[in-house]
Amino acid sequence: METRIDEIGDRIYRLSTHVPDIVPPAGFTFNQFLVLGDEPLLFHTGLRKMFPLVSEAVSRIMPIQDLRWITFGHYEADECGAMNEWLAVAPNAQIAHGMTGCLVSLNDMADRPPRVLSNGEVIDIGGKRIQYIDTPHVPHGWDAGVIFEETSRTLFCGDLFTHLGNGPAITEGDIVGPALAAEDIFYDTSLGPSIAPTVRRLADLAPRTLALMHGSSFVGDTAAALHNLASAYDRRLRAAMAGTT
Ligand SMILES: [Fe+2]
Ligand SMILES: [Fe+2]
Repeated sequence: METRIDEIGDRIYRLSTHVPDIVPPAGFTFNQFLVLGDEPLLFHTGLRKMFPLVSEAVSRIMPIQDLRWITFGHYEADECGAMNEWLAVAPNAQIAHGMTGCLVSLNDMADRPPRVLSNGEVIDIGGKRIQYIDTPHVPHGWDAGVIFEETSRTLFCGDLFTHLGNGPAITEGDIVGPALAAEDIFYDTSLGPSIAPTVRRLADLAPRTLALMHGSSFVGDTAAALHNLASAYDRRLRAAMAGTT
């Protein structure tokens, strides 16, 4: 396995590791995003066991000890499994996450105290502005959240739009169909009442880029993609409630 690096925006790097053994032959990618600024930020730490690969990839871009912020969607191994490894090699790094994530998991599981972010709070990392947005239970996890980088209008949407394969770093093609196909395999989305409204609200940010944790990042009509995904979940929820699935 190797970790591929692509700059998907100005000083925004996608680190992607394809694991062919997960749902072969397509396989599955685990992506982290490094946002450079005066205070560099990593979104998703990668799996604990992938730390050697991911940290080596980061070191090709910047000195890993200079990492300042570590954040991720929710408490889960691929999102934050390597957080303590990162804290160990980057002495000034701090985890930043929402209130629920900190109170439920991170105050205990992180080796240093996290910074608690309120919904909508912005961290100015010097050259980039990172807004934290609570998305409880969307796509899964009580503590779930996403980040939005305001200057590049990049929405780091974590597990939303998860799809299989080792596609290009950036696509303008359909990501909704592949996401629903993956959903039929993984059942990874909490199909509850908050899913569609929350996804629609993210469209209000008018992102230029959707940076996905699993699959290609998307540029194009991001609002349409988010609305189409929301509508698909809406239909699936209604069908489940009606007992027709
Ligand atoms: Fe997840
Ligand atoms: Fe994930």
